[in-house]
Amino acid sequence: MTSKKLALASNNQNKIFELKKILTTGFSLLTPKELGLVFEVEETESTFEGNARLKSEHLYKISGLPSVADDSGICVSALNGDPGVYSAYYGKPGFTDRDRTEFLLEEIKGNPDRAAYYFCCIAYTDGNGTKFFTGKCEGILAEDYDESGFGFGYDPIFIYPPLKKRFSQISPEEKNKVSHRGIALREFAKFLLG
Ligand code: IMP
Repeated sequence: MTSKKLALASNNQNKIFELKKILTTGFSLLTPKELGLVFEVEETESTFEGNARLKSEHLYKISGLPSVADDSGICVSALNGDPGVYSAYYGKPGFTDRDRTEFLLEEIKGNPDRAAYYFCCIAYTDGNGTKFFTGKCEGILAEDYDESGFGFGYDPIFIYPPLKKRFSQISPEEKNKVSHRGIALREFAKFLLG
């Protein structure tokens, strides 16, 4: 079976790693770098769908290949759903992922409401237009930062209740089975494979 070429609208190594792990059979995922393209899009929309669309449509325009983009983030109940679409920029300019995560912990320090969820919107653009696939994963925010684990972004503080573990304490394979991105991507793969 020949694999279908898809352009992947991301420069984020962690996302690329997770996406490539899920979209395996039947697909050949090419990053902007692998296509020799410079891909920079300002995420100016206020919804996950809006930003995912900006990215997939821009990449389709410059690559001519069917293009897929992910926009995702964490929505915290005690912060009325923030940082949401702004998760990548939360806190102050120059913050690392860890700074942002520790800043979030400070913002909700002492608050008994620890509910949060990750949300992911996948946008897919080809000659027929743009389609969306979404996934949500509910969790509980820890009181401290897990220094020993792996995972990226907010994973060191995100506890997934059914496993009683943080996303930083489970393997990428286990995470993909239950994560917002895994759910959205499996829907997308179903659509693509017909
Ligand atoms: P964007 O989709 O590039 O705007 O960035 C989404 C941001 O949300 C990331 O930079 C992370 O901070 C956070 N995020 C999204 N998905 C995950 C995840 O699976 N684990 C940890 N953080 C995530």
